Amino acid sequence: QAVKYVQVEDYAGSIIAKLTALFAAAMKAAYPVAADVGILITEATRANFGDYQFNSAMAVANTLTKAGQKTNPRDVAQNILAKLEPSDLIEKTEVAGPGFVNIFLNRATIAKRVGQVCMEGVKAVLLPRVASRRAVVDFSSPNVAKEMHVGHLRSTIIGDSICRLLEHVHFDVLRINHIGDWGTQFGMLIAHLQERFPNFLTETPPIGDLQAFYKESKKRFDEDEKFKARAYQCVVKLQAFDADIVKAWKLICDESRKDFERIYERLDIKVTERGESFYQSRMGAVIKELTERGFLKEEDGRKIMFATGQSVPLTVVKSDGGNTYDTSDLAAIKQRLNEEKADWLIYVVDVGQSMHLETIYAAARDLSWYDDTKKRVEHVGFGLVLGEDKKKFKTRSGDTVRLTDLLNEGLTRSLAKLKEKERDKVMTPEELKAAQEAIAYGCIKYADLSHNRTQDYVFSFDRMLDDRGNTAVYLLYAYTRIRSIARVAEVSSDQLKNHVKTKGLTIDHPAEFKLAKTILKFSDCILSVLDSLMMHQLCEYLYELATTFHDFYSECYVIEKDKEGKTVTIRYDRLVLCEVTADVMADCFNVLGIRTLEKM
Ligand code: ARG
Repeated sequence: QAVKYVQVEDYAGSIIAKLTALFAAAMKAAYPVAADVGILITEATRANFGDYQFNSAMAVANTLTKAGQKTNPRDVAQNILAKLEPSDLIEKTEVAGPGFVNIFLNRATIAKRVGQVCMEGVKAVLLPRVASRRAVVDFSSPNVAKEMHVGHLRSTIIGDSICRLLEHVHFDVLRINHIGDWGTQFGMLIAHLQERFPNFLTETPPIGDLQAFYKESKKRFDEDEKFKARAYQCVVKLQAFDADIVKAWKLICDESRKDFERIYERLDIKVTERGESFYQSRMGAVIKELTERGFLKEEDGRKIMFATGQSVPLTVVKSDGGNTYDTSDLAAIKQRLNEEKADWLIYVVDVGQSMHLETIYAAARDLSWYDDTKKRVEHVGFGLVLGEDKKKFKTRSGDTVRLTDLLNEGLTRSLAKLKEKERDKVMTPEELKAAQEAIAYGCIKYADLSHNRTQDYVFSFDRMLDDRGNTAVYLLYAYTRIRSIARVAEVSSDQLKNHVKTKGLTIDHPAEFKLAKTILKFSDCILSVLDSLMMHQLCEYLYELATTFHDFYSECYVIEKDKEGKTVTIRYDRLVLCEVTADVMADCFNVLGIRTLEKM
């Protein structure tokens, strides 16, 4: 399992990494000429094919045949197996079909590993160790005075989860909110502020609904030529840092910030504000650098830069001398690479902006601001949010949906769901509130994260609040139930650890073995998500773990009771599997940014 630009120091529980190493060595010993053939290990497609498969024998045979040494893949597979070092991980191997190798894992080794997770914890045993990197993640990034919309919500949710993943493997992560707080739209906002609240310098104006304020000022701007001229003057003064105008600008930004912060707080999002205005002085320096190094061309009074391989140029200076979104992104990328010394830059922005970002990256490479063989700079794109009618997500009246209203509706619906199940009768008001919030926000986040982010996704409260299928509600219920098993049996985690320590962990039943294997897959899952930044892969794993647990639990007694309901036997080995499953699930929820509940 290779991760782009990330040095894996310890593959921890990764079964694929261990098998890859074993088979690579065997292949090298048997066929030194086939050194270029990649090692392909996958999970077995059927239970009777074993647990994993080695699929490279066919490619090796191909290479040999091309080199004039005609051979058949089954013999190749046989010869590689002859060189395979014995390992406690592998129980047996067999050649199958045209030359596949079926690998059967050793149960005792798998059981021992799960026992270790019980004693030392998920992080210590299963979390791969990677060389620490400094990452800058640009996410959320709404625009001042405009309402944060569902697109920003996607960026916020996906971006936060990526940060959590990187923090989980101990990266040094800088979370940046690249707010749109600079630019020509401020001209009309400030002009309107002056008009509506002439005393704004001495009294804090009650701007109130900022979106309405934005609409009003836009209307004035479009209808009144004099207003337009004043707005334009305001932009010029703002860029010259005129004290009164800067004050007006700050007032508007502060008002917006309050709205954003309320949303972040509700969703447990931490992000550092560093808007476009932060790069003001750096934009000047970048323009100077580009001019001196001869990267700018004049065209219709604009100064533009063509980046290698990109069809559309960047507008660095407008014909009126102003800067653009391109200018601030150039200054930002340089600041992140040079001043922040980031090794990895991630931009969580909708796919509609992919051309803009690719051009910025190409320009940065042309300017030798970074070397793309050493640093990973990438756009983590995502599709649109659609309504249930498969059209762009809108309210019934056709307006954009306010995030506050959306979160509130989530709360109303999750409470209704809890009441429908009569949970309100067994919970304290505090517990009910915690459950209501965890479900509402967890569902909204999970629905987003569990879809392949590059595609559009349909926002449906009905679907996300369904307690069957791959939803947060199903998973949260499953988690809470699993946690309650040991609690009801009154077995503490110390008792379980002690059991593993003194007796070891025994795994017999096929359903136990399947669950144990699935638990260990956590390591491989983390490695592949680190490579792809596709959070839905983690969701799929979490769902697989929960359903595998479900199968195990319906086939294997953990606690046996007599007719009166008194506990007669506690199967400690199985209880260990329960607790470890819940521990791994908790780690997944943590990376996804979803709160879990003890009671639900
Ligand atoms: N404010 C922008 C928008 O709402 C997103 C900014 C994304 N980040 C960036 N560095 N361009 O579309």
